[in-house]
Amino acid sequence: MEPTVNTKDANGWKNLTMIYRFALKEVDTKLNILNEEFQFFHYRNPIEHIKSRVKTKESIIDKLIRKGYEVTIENAREYIHDIAGIRIICSFTSDIYVIYELIKSQSDVKLIEVKDYIKNPKPNGYQSLHLIVEIPVFLSDRSEHVKVEIQIRTIAMDFWASLEHKIFYKFNKAIPSEITQQLKECAEDIAHLDQKMLFIKNEIEQYK
Ligand code: GTP
Ligand code: MG
Repeated sequence: MEPTVNTKDANGWKNLTMIYRFALKEVDTKLNILNEEFQFFHYRNPIEHIKSRVKTKESIIDKLIRKGYEVTIENAREYIHDIAGIRIICSFTSDIYVIYELIKSQSDVKLIEVKDYIKNPKPNGYQSLHLIVEIPVFLSDRSEHVKVEIQIRTIAMDFWASLEHKIFYKFNKAIPSEITQQLKECAEDIAHLDQKMLFIKNEIEQYK
C-alpha cells in the first residue's frame, strides 16, 4: 500500500519541532539561572512561573496558510516567529523590564523584535511585553539560530489575558461595543491594581 505521508517530509517536521524544543530548554535554563541569582542577591523571585509550548505541526501549517505562504519547513522557520513560545509571569510590573534587560544583555541572545503592549496596550486592553529573540542551539554537527517568542507579563495581566482568551476563543462574530468597553475597563482596573501593588512593595522596602 502507498504510504499516506512522505516520510522524509514527516521527519523534517519532527526535526523542526525538536530544534524549537531545544531552544525552549535553552531559554528556560537562562531564566531559571537569572531567577535564582536574583533570589540570592535580592531575597525574592521576580519570576512567579514560566509556561512554554511548541506549536504543533498542524497549527504551524494553519498559520502559514492564514498568512498566505506556501507550506514548507523553510517558510515556517522564516515567517512563523512563535513556533517556540515562552510566557514569563512576573510579580511586579517593574520586574518585567528587569527580566527584559537581563535577557537582552546576554551575548548569545539576538533581539529581533519588541512589542510593548504595556506602554501601548492593544485596543481591547491586552497588556504584555512581547519579544522575538534568536538564540543558538548547538547540535552534533552544526549550530542553528532559532527564534523564540517571549511574552512577559504580571500575574494580573495574565489573569486578564487568560480569561479574555477563554471568553472569546473561536468567537468569530462582532463583539457588541458595550462588552468591548467592559473588557477594556477590566484591563484598566488590573493595570491600576498592578500600580498599587508596586507602590506598596516600594513603600515596604523603605522599612527593611
Ligand atoms: P500572531 O499572528 O497571533 O502571532 O499575532 P502577531 O504576530 O500580531 O503577534 P502579537 O505579538 O501581537 O501576538 C502574539 C501572541 O500574543 C498571540 O499568539 C497571543 O498569545 C498573545 N496575544 C496577542 N493579543 C492578544 C489578546 O488580545 N488577547 C490575548 N488573550 N492574547 C493575546
Ligand atoms: Mg503568535
